[in-house]
Amino acid sequence: MPTTTGMKPGGFCDAHSSAQRAALDAFLPWLEEAVTDIERPADGHPPIGLLDLGSSEGGNAIHAMGRLIRALRKQTEAPIWVFLDDPPTNDFNHLFSNLFPKGDLAFAERAVYAAAVGGSAFCVATTVT
Ligand SMILES: C[S@@+](CC[C@H](N)C(=O)[O-])C[C@H]1O[C@@H](n2cnc3c(N)ncnc32)[C@H](O)[C@@H]1O
Repeated sequence: MPTTTGMKPGGFCDAHSSAQRAALDAFLPWLEEAVTDIERPADGHPPIGLLDLGSSEGGNAIHAMGRLIRALRKQTEAPIWVFLDDPPTNDFNHLFSNLFPKGDLAFAERAVYAAAVGGSAFCVATTVT
């Protein structure tokens, strides 16, 4: 049974998640270093998947994914899929507004694709990976 009805919608989470952003910015360099340590994939490598769990309205998730995409692009031209997950009750309208701020995908790098996933992390993590 779902145990969450989602965060308060309409930009509330983005407007009240500066503490999460600060924590994120503290450990993102570790993730960027880990990403640049991976072996350079061969030409024709299948897409690389990045999965953010509990993305809410996306402000912080898109910030984090953007950093990791830029780190990955130093290593590989392989296509990158970004999956942003939250339970179905999430404000996905707001998430999509963040994901396509001016009608174009927020990630400007080549061959980057994004999808939102409505589902619990406990199911999605095993399905997407
Ligand atoms: C405190 S918010 C953090 C949002 C965002 N990651 C950030 O840093 O701003 C936690 C998010 O986790 C989501 N969440 C709670 N239970 C979840 C679950 N089982 N699977 C996926 N997301 C979940 C909530 O709906 C909420 O959007």
